[in-house]
Amino acid sequence: MTAEEHAAGARIAVVTGASSGIGAATARQLADAGYRVVLTARRRDRIEELAAALPNAEAYVLDVTDRAAVDAFAASLDRCDVLVNNAGGALGADPVATGDPADWRAMYEVNVLGTLHITQALLPALTASGDGTVVVVSSTAGHGTYEGGGGYVAAKHGEHVLAETLRLELCGQPVRVIEIAPGMVKTEGFATTRFRGDTAKAAKVYEGVAEPLDADDVAATITWAVTRPPHVNIDLLVVRPRAQASNSKVHRTS
Ligand SMILES: NC(=O)c1ccc[n+]([C@@H]2O[C@H](COP(=O)([O-])OP(=O)(O)OC[C@H]3O[C@@H](n4cnc5c(N)ncnc54)[C@H](OP(=O)(O)O)[C@@H]3O)[C@@H](O)[C@H]2O)c1
Repeated sequence: MTAEEHAAGARIAVVTGASSGIGAATARQLADAGYRVVLTARRRDRIEELAAALPNAEAYVLDVTDRAAVDAFAASLDRCDVLVNNAGGALGADPVATGDPADWRAMYEVNVLGTLHITQALLPALTASGDGTVVVVSSTAGHGTYEGGGGYVAAKHGEHVLAETLRLELCGQPVRVIEIAPGMVKTEGFATTRFRGDTAKAAKVYEGVAEPLDADDVAATITWAVTRPPHVNIDLLVVRPRAQASNSKVHRTS
């Protein structure tokens, strides 16, 4: 591909964890914004269905904790302009005293090492694009702690530090690093995964909160940041519902 053809082609945005919640909404909104979107996640049926419904999208089954698979995915792309590191989540809400080290390890694997794997693999393409963007969907759990946050808070702090360090290291290169740190977002998967399918426990997270954020609120924030002119770097954007003033101060009506 010549430089002219490259510049004229559709800009490609890769979204990890695009099978539900924030990632699926981000894939939709980036497609609406004119990107050719590559949706990745482990659940093939979901990403294929969503990709088929979008104007310019494709699905690629990918577990971000599998480095060899991530490298093969990166090799399959002929360009990449935007990478949205969204795959991740929480497992359990146990105190540090009794938290399961296997949960801590799994959360570190997906939130930190998953982000590391795909960012490393796609950095050459992002740099070659001339205007690359790396988005890291961390969390307010990466900026403060709360009781029971344990391994999730630790992992999201790690992801935040990854974003901060990468921005320093890429300074002077044509790649910006944007961190979006959402507070409470009511998505189909987050709390259910955290409580291992216990929907009653999951529902309690949002109980009495009039309007938690939804996936589209966060996707709109991501899409806004990504569509700023390339010289504008939104370093860090913390976005919470009005009813949540901090990780542990939430207004509930019941
Ligand atoms: N909801 C909130 O309150 C909230 C707040 C702050 C930050 N966040 C962060 O926002 C991101 C999205 O969360 P969400 O609320 O949209 O939850 P969600 O609906 O559970 O979505 C999580 C996504 O991550 C994917 N995923 C999980 N493990 C993966 C792996 N090993 N490889 C590839 N994909 C993987 C899942 O897809 P598959 O299962 O199909 O692989 C799914 O698409 C997460 O990083 C989460 O920590 C959420």
